[in-house]
Amino acid sequence: MAAHLPGALVDAAYDAVGRPVLFRLGGGDPEVAHETTLDWLAWWGRTPARRAILELAFGSQGRPVDVAGIRFAGPVGLAAGMDKDARALMAWARLGFSHVEFGTVTGRPQPGNPQPRMYRLKDSHGVINRMGFNNAGSAAIAARLELAGIRRGNLAAGMPVGVSIGKTKVVPLADAVEDYLSSLRRLVHLVDYLAVNVSSPNTPGLRSLQGAEELSGLVRSLVAEAAVQAEESAQSALGPVPVFVKIAPDLEWSAIDEALEVCEAAGAAGVIATNTTLTRDGLAPQDRPTGAQAGGLSGAPLTARALDVVSYVTRHTSLPVIGVGGIMTADDARAMLQAGAALVQLFTGFIYRGPGLVRDINALSGLTERD
Ligand code: FNR
Repeated sequence: MAAHLPGALVDAAYDAVGRPVLFRLGGGDPEVAHETTLDWLAWWGRTPARRAILELAFGSQGRPVDVAGIRFAGPVGLAAGMDKDARALMAWARLGFSHVEFGTVTGRPQPGNPQPRMYRLKDSHGVINRMGFNNAGSAAIAARLELAGIRRGNLAAGMPVGVSIGKTKVVPLADAVEDYLSSLRRLVHLVDYLAVNVSSPNTPGLRSLQGAEELSGLVRSLVAEAAVQAEESAQSALGPVPVFVKIAPDLEWSAIDEALEVCEAAGAAGVIATNTTLTRDGLAPQDRPTGAQAGGLSGAPLTARALDVVSYVTRHTSLPVIGVGGIMTADDARAMLQAGAALVQLFTGFIYRGPGLVRDINALSGLTERD
């Protein structure tokens, strides 16, 4: 059996060194910390020997879960937005993640919003971002996955991978479907699932695609194209790639009802709830955001709302649900799973707690450390 570093040591090292160093990089600019983390993980993921060391230090695995015909080695994945361009693609599984959602990628490459565009709300354990889908474009991501030997179903990254797809900013909303379709066609043979992002607050008009009519048109087109691509492909035995839909936490219950109805009718494989919120509830007084900090809020201030939404969604659909939003502790993950989520994902919790959080969540799901 592999001797992993004791969990307490990993936590203590992240608390004492990892987080303080990362939070000071670039004069405290969170985007510099983010880029450095990705560079570092990309380096560690590059050779089998380095991956083995990562695995020895941080590896853990929870109880396997089957969702949408895919076997996940444990319950916790990395949420979209952390590794938008699939740069550290070989590292994440070695930190105990059972899947990663790369992206959001768009039909065309784009720089995203001007910096600064990411803020830490340290006392609230939150983050505000308005990145605006900065990414290399779906063609470049597809090339990167191909180069790494990643194909649908082959687990070359050590886990299933998904890609989140969104709309290119300069493409008018009226042409959104074609933009999403262009990404789907490039990626469909490479990834284990697709996530349709209609819930980012940082692309003007994007959230309007959650409306029943717009969502129906979009999801039906994507599901139909996935079926066509599957028939034409050498991987046809796998069937069409599953298409998940990621929703915002700020929708009214009636709008969620409509979105769920559409997802079921249009053939979506599942729902991812939730993206970041535009509300500013639950912030510590020191973190009251300035007007400059426009964007989506994530982390601890989102925990309660995301859990409410996940509980609501699981009670109102038979589709599998991936719960995400404000998972900062293993107990937060447990609450999501108990509310009926099939899997959970994290982003902000990983920033504040580091890899120890992944290990803790795996442990609570029925500890079986990877041998
Ligand atoms: C995100 N999130 C996100 N979601 C998405 O679907 N596509 C994306 O490109 C991004 N980008 C992104 C960037 C940054 C800096 C953050 C903090 C978040 C949202 C993310 O996947 C997740 O849904 C929310 O952050 C809520 O989860 P956490 O962070 O509270 O665990």
